[in-house]
Amino acid sequence: MGKDKIAIISDIHANIEALDEVYKDIEKEKIDKIICLGDVVGYGPNPNEAIDMVKDRVLYTIKGNHDEGIINENVLFDFNEYGIKAIEWQKNILKKDGFDFLSTLNFDMKFDDFQIVHGALSNYFKYILTISDALEEIKYMERDILFIGHSHRTAVFDLNDKIYYPFKEMGEFKLEKDKKYIINPGSVGQPRDYNPLSSYLIFDQENYKLIFKRVSYPFDITREKIIKGGLPEFLGDRLIIGF
Ligand SMILES: [Fe+2]
Repeated sequence: MGKDKIAIISDIHANIEALDEVYKDIEKEKIDKIICLGDVVGYGPNPNEAIDMVKDRVLYTIKGNHDEGIINENVLFDFNEYGIKAIEWQKNILKKDGFDFLSTLNFDMKFDDFQIVHGALSNYFKYILTISDALEEIKYMERDILFIGHSHRTAVFDLNDKIYYPFKEMGEFKLEKDKKYIINPGSVGQPRDYNPLSSYLIFDQENYKLIFKRVSYPFDITREKIIKGGLPEFLGDRLIIGF
């Protein structure tokens, strides 16, 4: 078992005000590395800057459905109208390095003690929202722990005891050896659990525990950029309520 303290971030969605505050919080935490579970782009106003910030600080990044949507329009049938509008808007301003970066990302990765995927191992674009969704993944898991993003909702799914723990607020969760878990850090740039604070988590491998963090950021600035930039207003408004 590794002894690192790893910050797990996901679903940044081109929201650099949120990512900036999350990085400041990470700075205080003596973190060894940052891992990103995808959706660097989509929805928000600053895709180029978000990609640059991820390239700067994140050691491993995988591809989310919005990252794929920018480079492959065949997956857009699965997106809602706001998501499609934002992808089209971002495609017009994204620089070549941004497209190149997104094209290099893998859909999943495996490490010594855990695996990561944006949606699910059974289907990269599937949402794991319930314990039964989570239990379907056991047969695909090659490690005890799988970190996921995609739903923008914090979660620990204990696959042995079949229990789902949502983490709407900050909190710690002690993991048990030899149990299987699917864990979601929530979303940095567009939380959807009715808590508008930016969400990420710390995986403390030495003490084998999770620390769920919520960080405030100036969402009114992001909202204004979304609206002034001509993205759908709803994408700005939802940041205020955290859904
Ligand atoms: Fe997302």
